[in-house]
Amino acid sequence: MSAVTGEAAKFNAVILISGTGSNMEAVISYSQTHPDCPYRVLKVLSDRSARGIQTARAKGIEALELDRRAADFNERLLEETEGADVIVLAGYLSILDPSFIETYSGRILNIHPSLLPLHGGKGMYGLKVHQAVLDSGETESGCTVHLVTQDVDQGEILLQKKVPVKRGDAAADLRDRILPFEHECLVEGLLLMINKMKERG
Ligand code: GRF
Repeated sequence: MSAVTGEAAKFNAVILISGTGSNMEAVISYSQTHPDCPYRVLKVLSDRSARGIQTARAKGIEALELDRRAADFNERLLEETEGADVIVLAGYLSILDPSFIETYSGRILNIHPSLLPLHGGKGMYGLKVHQAVLDSGETESGCTVHLVTQDVDQGEILLQKKVPVKRGDAAADLRDRILPFEHECLVEGLLLMINKMKERG
């Protein structure tokens, strides 16, 4: 708590991306349009060349492209996330090293574009997830914000939003219908987690 203004200190969020970064953009935009937002985005990092890096820089956020194939990638990731209170995976496609998950245990969030535990797990990302929903004949899908643990997509679920599957949907239609709900879900899930962290003290 600042002695001068009495304002609560903001939590430092570092966002990891691999692609477009629309979820990342939603997290940044919320913090830049809500003065009482309890977090600030300290930095954006990608594991490969990602359009979201330019988007982050255009919004005034430090952004750095790393290379997941480099032998010291995990060490670089640990170095560059120094000072983070919470790590947000927003369309991040690499599997995190166990030592990274241990370092930020209980403080890593991920957004997945289905109603976990349905259609999650290793290799389930992007259009493959939505195609699996269509192949299953389910009439609803959605998105999930969950804590990241060593087991892919199996951490504690913080928030889900349901989205209808419509007759004749192709995977891309479902993806496009769910994406805006992901943006809301990720921001709301992050706020929920920060409230929990504050309660824990
Ligand atoms: C989103 O659908 C997210 O759920 C999945 O990959 C996509 C990333 O989109 N992990 P963006 O890069 O946030 O626009």
